[in-house]
Amino acid sequence: MFPKLLSLAALAAVVNAEHWIFGGSKLIATTRLDSIVSPNAIGTHVHAIVGASGFKNVYNPDELVQSNCTTIPVQPDKSNYWAPQMYHQDPQGNLTPMPTSFNIYYLVRNGPKNEKVHAFPKGLVMLAGDTTRRTYNASSFADQAVSYVCLDYNNDHSGDPDWAERPDFFTHSCPDGMRAQVFFPSCWDGVNLDSPDHKSHMAYPVQAYNTGDCPDSHPVHLVSLFYEMFVSVDQFEYHGAGTWVLANGDTTGYGHHGDFQNGWDVDLLQEAIDTCTAANGNVMDCPPLAAVFDQAAADACTLEGSVVDENIGLTTPLTSLPGCNPIYGSGKPCANAGTPQLIPAQDPLPTGWTELGCIAEGTNGRALPALSMKDPNMTRAMCASYCGSHGYKLAGVEFSDECYCDNSVKNGASETFLTWSECSNHCAGNSYEICGGAAKLTLMTTGNPGASSPSSSSSSASSVSSAATKPVSSANTVSSVRATSVSATSVVATSSPTQTSVASTQSAHSVTPSTSPSTPATSTTGPSAPAASLPAGWAVVGCRSDTSARALTGYSFANDQMTVASCVSTCSSKGFLMAGVEFGRECYCGNSFQNQAGEPLPSASCNMACAGDATGTCGGNWAFTLYKHSDLAVANPGPSSSASVTPTSVASATQPSSTGTAPSNSTNVSGLPAGWIAVGYDDRELHLALRLPGPQHGRT
Ligand SMILES: *[C@@H]1O[C@H](CO)[C@@H](O)[C@H](O)[C@H]1NC(C)=O
Ligand SMILES: *[C@@H]1O[C@H](CO)[C@@H](O)[C@H](O)[C@H]1NC(C)=O
Ligand SMILES: *[C@@H]1O[C@H](CO)[C@@H](O)[C@H](O)[C@H]1NC(C)=O
Ligand SMILES: *[C@@H]1O[C@H](CO)[C@@H](O)[C@H](O)[C@H]1NC(C)=O
Ligand SMILES: *[C@@H]1O[C@H](CO)[C@@H](O)[C@H](O)[C@H]1NC(C)=O
Repeated sequence: MFPKLLSLAALAAVVNAEHWIFGGSKLIATTRLDSIVSPNAIGTHVHAIVGASGFKNVYNPDELVQSNCTTIPVQPDKSNYWAPQMYHQDPQGNLTPMPTSFNIYYLVRNGPKNEKVHAFPKGLVMLAGDTTRRTYNASSFADQAVSYVCLDYNNDHSGDPDWAERPDFFTHSCPDGMRAQVFFPSCWDGVNLDSPDHKSHMAYPVQAYNTGDCPDSHPVHLVSLFYEMFVSVDQFEYHGAGTWVLANGDTTGYGHHGDFQNGWDVDLLQEAIDTCTAANGNVMDCPPLAAVFDQAAADACTLEGSVVDENIGLTTPLTSLPGCNPIYGSGKPCANAGTPQLIPAQDPLPTGWTELGCIAEGTNGRALPALSMKDPNMTRAMCASYCGSHGYKLAGVEFSDECYCDNSVKNGASETFLTWSECSNHCAGNSYEICGGAAKLTLMTTGNPGASSPSSSSSSASSVSSAATKPVSSANTVSSVRATSVSATSVVATSSPTQTSVASTQSAHSVTPSTSPSTPATSTTGPSAPAASLPAGWAVVGCRSDTSARALTGYSFANDQMTVASCVSTCSSKGFLMAGVEFGRECYCGNSFQNQAGEPLPSASCNMACAGDATGTCGGNWAFTLYKHSDLAVANPGPSSSASVTPTSVASATQPSSTGTAPSNSTNVSGLPAGWIAVGYDDRELHLALRLPGPQHGRT
């Protein structure tokens, strides 16, 4: 199923297999800065940047290593890694940045002469690829080093040239996302830490771009660096050439490139290279790195400095690319918006407050029920200041504009930190900051409750108190402020990554014909939508229980126009077989029940009129009116840790198990962040994938 899948035995035959992967690394910033190519200036195009929190528009290695944190789990690696952000262009020319994360590979490849592999010297920068390239020279290692892989876990495209790894963009969509890849040159001239083109102090090996011996001109063999930029192209429609655009305007893909600036503890990197000969992808197999592995610190890390003050499309689509980059092949001129300024990326938290990470709401109520408010200008700082001024030591921001306070987490919630991607809502008051997610909180704490001075946010503190609402212990208040851009889509299992192969993920929700007859659509429900208004094959089932973790986790949205028909048809169009309408205005889709929710309830529990149609019934308080397609027998309440269902897996879930099989064997990948799965081996190495949440386009 995976292209060029190799067995473990075949992989073992590859010499110099030592490598480790910083998988699923979060971006520290998405902004038009480039400290290598455009120092002390605004860059020419938007980059997706990973790594140290001290990233700014000029590189100073002494300062960079002092960064407070990095989005790389091995905290002593204060390097930055970046590549052009990829945009989706719709047929009308609207541009939306596609969700992105990075897998960073360190590969120890000595070459046939068994050369010693060195750590990156302090102060090294380098660039691979060429932003101006729009053609391909098949005999150039530099051109070979940029490539694309189209992911489709459910179908075997081996032997199909349209699906093979290639040097430019595919001419079709990729059902499970795409990898934009850059392999850096590993041979250094031994003298220069940079060069005018940021490349000529480095060279590719003699035999191949990704392995071999170093040429005499560049005799120092460094560790090989390889970026996989994982782009969720699958969340967007594909409509031919021009659908995918790099931030530099390139629609071919040839202009992709990668930048690196070294911020390593160089001695630690050398120790890892020298001693981790058994590492096979997993950082945890490299003791010196495992000892400083801190995923929670990486996930909570935010940029210390500034970003460019311009709209890059995070909250509303753009009509032109930032930086006056015309779209290649369109013939349209760019729109030059002048030179923007820099602004701080985050509103600083009040003194004494720190961000801890992303947590889930309680299972039977709010995690922080003591006090809450919402504000259209919400930031983390506003919430921390509000909670602090009321004497609370924990503050949580949720769903872009909600703030909750308490002194401990309650109602079944815990300080178990989730993968960063589960908190992906941009703050209502600052799109560069993250303010939680759907039923997920960005949690902050202070060591001195009540002592928080509102100094850095005095203006917000005043607006906050007037906006304060009563403590919320039921769903009511929250439901009334839910955004439509719910992002609870498609995050793969959060259970132990070591056991979570694709196969187990799928079997967790595979839909086998049930021996129990499906519940007849009879007296268990109140008034419901006339069958005629539903898509073919759909019928009402009854009233079912929900929890804050949600019974149906495949997709969700909420609005004040909600009707049964709008919910069911949305779930149907996204390939789901179950739809639940809840609280009058919320819609949830899935193919099986998750989180031990979905128990039958008396019909009286589903007693709320639909927000968009008072004659219809749209669930109740923690209760949803369930509709299902006739292809599906209703599942029983699911295990609490089972995987969510993605639309792309529906097809295989309803087919015999011979399709959609897992890669032969995932390796020991215990170092992966929650939500990650090993998806198999190809001719390079172990590959990982993470389902990222969709774009966050404001409220409607
Ligand atoms: C293609 O790359 C090779 C190897 O770098 C080089 O010798 C050749 O001149 C290139 N051809 C063109 C047309 O640039
Ligand atoms: C980074 O650390 C310094 C020194 O400890 C501290 O003053 C500063 O507030 C920190 N910055 C952030 C963004 O946390
Ligand atoms: C939000 O901020 C804007 C711009 O600073 C301001 O005009 C507006 O009054 C603020 N809204 C609230 C509710 O404080
Ligand atoms: C996967 O690993 C298990 C146990 O290590 C082994 O029994 C099984 O045969 C392997 N499967 C494949 C397809 O290699
Ligand atoms: C997997 O990792 C665990 C703990 O790191 C180790 O005990 C076990 O032997 C490993 N298994 C394999 C097959 O490498």
